[in-house]
Amino acid sequence: MRITGNTLTRRGFGAILAAGLLATGLTACANSDTGDNAGGTAGDDKIVLGFSQVGAESGWRTANTTSVKEAATEAGIELKFDDAQQKQENQIRAIRNFIQQKVDVIAFSPVVESGWDTVLKEAKDAQIPVILTDRAVDSADKTLYKTFLGSDFVKEGRLSAEWLIEETKSATGPVNIVELQGTTGSAPANDRKKGFAEAIAANPNLKIIASQSGDFTRAGGKAVMEQFLKANPKIDVLFAHNDDMGLGALEAITAAGKVPGKDIKIITIDAVKDGMQALADGKFNFIAECSPLLGPQLMDLAKKVHAGEEVPARIETEETTFTQQTAKEALPTRKY
Ligand code: AHR
Repeated sequence: MRITGNTLTRRGFGAILAAGLLATGLTACANSDTGDNAGGTAGDDKIVLGFSQVGAESGWRTANTTSVKEAATEAGIELKFDDAQQKQENQIRAIRNFIQQKVDVIAFSPVVESGWDTVLKEAKDAQIPVILTDRAVDSADKTLYKTFLGSDFVKEGRLSAEWLIEETKSATGPVNIVELQGTTGSAPANDRKKGFAEAIAANPNLKIIASQSGDFTRAGGKAVMEQFLKANPKIDVLFAHNDDMGLGALEAITAAGKVPGKDIKIITIDAVKDGMQALADGKFNFIAECSPLLGPQLMDLAKKVHAGEEVPARIETEETTFTQQTAKEALPTRKY
């Protein structure tokens, strides 16, 4: 009885069937196939969205979780939220649970890029549309998900490098850069590294002398920066893949007797409040924004894919960049 492809989903069809039955005076439970956790009780036409979040590793992630939860309430969508604690196996388990519960739509922010095909195929077989939010997967089969909503991470890396190229254009000797990468294997770590490296490639004086993962956390940023400082007497620039690692690194730099923002220039990505404060205070030098406020667009997409509407395969988040001066101006009205 199901209409497949880009037409109606199972619950969309169920809702129409229920309306038809009611119209003819029948009070049968049209959604009885949905199970206890799928969309509430019979007659309740709320969309049920299963959302698997990466974890709570950064200020960005916390803001993203708040955005998703608030937007779900606002949109009248029932949200089943799962925190994967930065583990792929937890995300796979959560997605399988959502499938078992027969949710209407699944959304997730994949902790790493690879290894999703099997579980995405299971969702497809169960005819549950999947939305990728924030991070992409590297699956060759693009029919395994409906759309990908999120930032252009390569561009964020490139914008960071372009600021540095301009900043160091009159440098006469080598400029030594250390890089704090995000979670190994994640799309933002892979892409930001790529965008930055490609953009500095034509400038032989800009050299990445050390590059390691700090797992997108403050603790990770601090610990890895301590090692960098011990092993490298001359560090001119830190490129951190997010604000939190940059903030952790600040502690290590200060403890080593150096002045962040002056002795070591600091470039980060995200532009969460604490990062923006560090930038306004002159401790960071440049931030490429990565917006976590994806909730409203995600809910809109969930409604559309549930209704069987066509949606664009890629929806890119609008973002900007900040210098110390523009951070001061933006801080008072910053939402996250
Ligand atoms: O995927 C987005 C990245 O993940 C953010 O830059 C980072 O802070 C987060 O943990």
